[in-house]
Amino acid sequence: MSTVSTVRAVAPRKIHFFVCTNERPEGSTMPCCAARDSRALLRAFQAEHARRGYPRGVKVSGSTCLTTCQCGPTVVLYPDALWYGGVTHADVSELFDTHLSGSGPVERLLLPDDMQVW
Ligand code: FES
Repeated sequence: MSTVSTVRAVAPRKIHFFVCTNERPEGSTMPCCAARDSRALLRAFQAEHARRGYPRGVKVSGSTCLTTCQCGPTVVLYPDALWYGGVTHADVSELFDTHLSGSGPVERLLLPDDMQVW
């Protein structure tokens, strides 16, 4: 009997991206990430995850409001508790590269210290 096994790359570090896709009702005076195309951004993160073969230890999830609405789209990365704002499709590959390699945060996307929630 033969056994078929699938070997998946293992990320050197565990990382979990949370992409806010919160949408507020029409007429709301509060900004929201969905109005800044964050649902497409989440799909871009998912596509990048797939392109890299779903390495073990890497997760991508959508999220409700992360409370830094005025700086959206907001992306939070755990376990490092890094808060990114104004993330675009053009940033996705760099975020994966940076965090998979452990080379540190993408400084230009970090929210200011007073907006880092944790
Ligand atoms: S709506 Fe995205 S952080 Fe609040």
